[in-house]
Amino acid sequence: MTAVLEVKDLHVSVGDNEILKGVSLTVRQGEVHALMGPNGSGKSTMAYAIAGHPHYQVTSGDILFNGQSILDLEPDERAKLGIFLAFQYPVAIPGVSFANFLRAAVSSVRGYKDRARAEVAQGGKREIGSELMPMREFRKELLAKMDRFNVDRSFAQRYLNDGFSGGEKKRGEVLQMAMLEPKIAILDESDSGLDIDALRVVADGINKLVADGMGALLITHYQRILNYVKPDKVSIFYKGRVVLTGGPELAHVLEEKGYGWVEKELAVEPA
Ligand SMILES: Nc1ncnc2c1ncn2[C@@H]1O[C@H](COP(=O)(O)OP(=O)(O)OP(=O)(O)O)[C@@H](O)[C@H]1O
Ligand SMILES: [Mg+2]
Repeated sequence: MTAVLEVKDLHVSVGDNEILKGVSLTVRQGEVHALMGPNGSGKSTMAYAIAGHPHYQVTSGDILFNGQSILDLEPDERAKLGIFLAFQYPVAIPGVSFANFLRAAVSSVRGYKDRARAEVAQGGKREIGSELMPMREFRKELLAKMDRFNVDRSFAQRYLNDGFSGGEKKRGEVLQMAMLEPKIAILDESDSGLDIDALRVVADGINKLVADGMGALLITHYQRILNYVKPDKVSIFYKGRVVLTGGPELAHVLEEKGYGWVEKELAVEPA
């Protein structure tokens, strides 16, 4: 079955401030949906709300995954369904290696943790390491994927994002996606701050994952990455709403005419 993520008339507030004012959009497995919009229009807010960040209160509307509301699910439960968020500003965790972080994340998403806990709950013995994907298997898969996605093998032992350059962080995110195998990934400005070679590596990684069946919501400011990752759909986000959805040509029109055009032509009511 093809997984579908649907955001329906979503209203989200931070404190008393309503930031999303009725967002609707759909992302399907195997499809790239690019989302463009000016600074502060609420793109990251929507990404966080989908991932289940507790600061963002959904006041009305719904987020459906395969037709089921995910609003009551915790962030880790949403991840287990196959939803992944690549942050605009990835956090560094000094002291935790990239490999250990990935092993823990993969073990959780693939159910190793739940199965080990269920066994203990049924009176089984607690085996050291049983909550984790077996080391050999994990290492083999990690090395294969580092090679396939052009991520330097030295990444594995480095502390997560600690001292990583902007480009290295974004490559690291591609590796996370490759390991976690999400059905739908939200990439929040995965192209920002990338040099031309890094942009190609990241775009190439996204393309491989989409060819494998991943759906991507690609949040971006520039048409540039869309030369490498061909979107099926482009949506324009403006003042907390999706105001227009179209084909790839929309990104070019936007690049040429800017957001003033959006405000004038689409007669968007000022918030
Ligand atoms: N945790 C928060 N606390 C207070 N205000 C917030 C919070 N998160 C978002 N906002 C506000 O919501 C608005 C939308 O922010 P958001 O980060 O979603 O925009 P964006 O479209 O991702 O912008 P950019 O293109 O600059 O990344 C901004 O005015 C921002 O200050
Ligand atoms: Mg943002």
